[in-house]
Amino acid sequence: MPVESATDYRKRLYELKNEIKLDDYYGTFKGTVLIDNFRKEQPRIEKFECRDNDVWVTSFPKSGTTWAQEMVWLLANNLDYNGAKDSLENRYTFLEGVALAGAYFKTKLLKLPIPDPISKLKKTKKRRFIKSHLPWDLLPAQIREGNRKSKIIHVVRNPKDVCVSFYHHTKIFPNLYVSMEEYFDKFISDKFLYSPYWNGVLSYWNKRHLPNVLIIRYEDMVNDLPSIIHQIADFLDTSVNEEDMGRLLHHLSFDQMKNNKAVNLEQVTDLLKKHGMLKAQYSLMRKGKVGSYKEELTEEMISLLEVWSEINNKDTGLVFDT
Ligand code: A3P
Repeated sequence: MPVESATDYRKRLYELKNEIKLDDYYGTFKGTVLIDNFRKEQPRIEKFECRDNDVWVTSFPKSGTTWAQEMVWLLANNLDYNGAKDSLENRYTFLEGVALAGAYFKTKLLKLPIPDPISKLKKTKKRRFIKSHLPWDLLPAQIREGNRKSKIIHVVRNPKDVCVSFYHHTKIFPNLYVSMEEYFDKFISDKFLYSPYWNGVLSYWNKRHLPNVLIIRYEDMVNDLPSIIHQIADFLDTSVNEEDMGRLLHHLSFDQMKNNKAVNLEQVTDLLKKHGMLKAQYSLMRKGKVGSYKEELTEEMISLLEVWSEINNKDTGLVFDT
């Protein structure tokens, strides 16, 4: 069907919403699509005991979470590059990680023991660093109700680059990896993992006035990382001098991150390779650019994303510089 005008695209979006069904391993939780295993985790997360000095890095997947995690961890830990040699998976606890492991169901990998994030966090005596892709509405009640001063750094990225980056990321989830066209229809009709994108992003954007919430944009990290570093340092009640800034910028550069085994997921991809489960070439640090969606999406896909964004992001004040 040729689609040319905004009205046609709106119609197409509406049709897709009706046509595309949720895959049977998903469930919907307060409007968010998650692996159905989350059903067991949700009450535990709801009641999770937060601490005032917890540091959270949250995002919709593929928004530059890893990059932000590394930056935040170093700033909160006195630029401890030695400590940063430990893997990011050890330094942060992925709150809903166990539920997500359901993406591996019926595969060999599920037989591996997966540590329970909540038990691990309860036992942790040191300052806790927590990663989550959950929307605000699914965070622990203590956070939502403002009973704790835990600091939350939320990363946002323009949906077109997120869409493409997420597609490539599915290569490490054997059950989720399908053709770009099939994936795109699920993403745009809000039937993919962690969808709806706009709900995830705006749920935090609408909390940006809270003193314990800081929103950072991937595009600003690419364009002016020093400013973002200072902003996060301020937020974490620390500071970075000029000399430290040089080393930090080098450490956080795309090439360094790409080759840094503590952050580049190589341990996971090596495991997948060993089990013959990596179906295509994969790298977490893939392009690291703003606007690389243009290389992979068709004009029709781009227009659909634009109309979808216009509908969902109307009058919110959130803009992306792409
Ligand atoms: P691309 O797939 O577009 O390259 P997440 O950590 O949330 O999964 O996000 C991954 C995205 O962040 C990837 O985007 C990755 O390349 C990008 N990224 C990670 N480190 C980066 C860096 N140092 N500079 C620029 N982009 C980076």
